Amino acid sequence: MFILNENEPTELAAYLRENNWLEENETINSIAKPGEGNMNYVLRIVTTKHSFIIKQSRGYVEKYPQVLAPANRVLTEGAFYTKIAADFDVQDAMPKIIAIDEANNLILLEDLGKSNDFTFLYDLEEKIQEKELHQLVGYLNGLHQNFQKEIIDEELSNSAMRALNYEHIFEFPYRDDTGFDLNTVQKGLQEIAITYKNDVELKLKIESLGSLYLSKGKYLLHGDYYPGSWLKTENGIKIIDPEFCFYGLREFDLAVFIAHLYLTQQEKSKIAYIKNNYLYFSELNSEILNGFIGTEIMRRLIGLAQLPLKMDLETKANLLTFARTLILK
Ligand SMILES: Nc1ncnc2c1ncn2[C@@H]1O[C@H](COP(=O)(O)OP(=O)(O)OP(=O)(O)O)[C@@H](O)[C@H]1O
Ligand SMILES: [Mg+2]
Repeated sequence: MFILNENEPTELAAYLRENNWLEENETINSIAKPGEGNMNYVLRIVTTKHSFIIKQSRGYVEKYPQVLAPANRVLTEGAFYTKIAADFDVQDAMPKIIAIDEANNLILLEDLGKSNDFTFLYDLEEKIQEKELHQLVGYLNGLHQNFQKEIIDEELSNSAMRALNYEHIFEFPYRDDTGFDLNTVQKGLQEIAITYKNDVELKLKIESLGSLYLSKGKYLLHGDYYPGSWLKTENGIKIIDPEFCFYGLREFDLAVFIAHLYLTQQEKSKIAYIKNNYLYFSELNSEILNGFIGTEIMRRLIGLAQLPLKMDLETKANLLTFARTLILK
């Protein structure tokens, strides 16, 4: 098995040449990490002719090797990119897939250029612009509309990744035996979280929302539609990292999107903008949508997948109360 390693340029060049991804007279100029990522091993390769991104998944989470994860998850991501290539607008908002190596759990992607994602929003200093929201909602409009299925099957079911996400969204935050002390994130957070961990009514509702997340649906979802998956490039916003994609309920993508607008303290008008510009908003089930919004807010505040969020404890407590209301109303 080929193992991608930034510090082994000779092996990497040989591997690329073997697959004809490096031409005879082409050599590598540089190999570097293109940006922050936790799950996978991602590199930018610049050659004498062009540059591209190479992404490999392993049987664990790159940043936390003790946490197991489906080894071939990048192949599902590759299959998603292959599928969406059929639609001009959706493809235009994402990198093109160049190649897939099934044997080595590896994909090659178009390099969108050096660019930041939108995680700067967690500094709570900047607001997202309406023209950016326009692109972000537009992407979901296209994805949800153009890839819907009449007959639900196993395509892109991504069950193992979904099971992993299920645990982190719907279970872990409400357990008190995880050994994860939230006071190491922020002093006092653990005490606030205990109320929710002991909240029977809330936990029952979360369990039923979890079942809906695990159920199959007609719509192709990105599955992780949050600021870390949005790149601010010279050519507008591009969407990356669909490794949690699946066919499911549209409410889920939209809810994650909206939850992160609350988490980054965007104005009410921005949330209204999404509701007004998402073309199928009136078709959505508002109880499920609000439930998923609340669950995403909660898991980002009291779960393991913490954000670089510069928010004081009182604001977090208020947001948790709000999230609970969204879930239970
Ligand atoms: N096609 C691309 N063009 C330019 N930069 C990219 C591209 N794909 C990824 N990057 C950069 O590499 C970073 C990591 O990529 P990606 O998010 O796909 O990895 P990941 O390991 O799945 O991350 P995470 O742990 O957040 O899920 C991105 O945040 C981005 O900065
Ligand atoms: Mg990822």
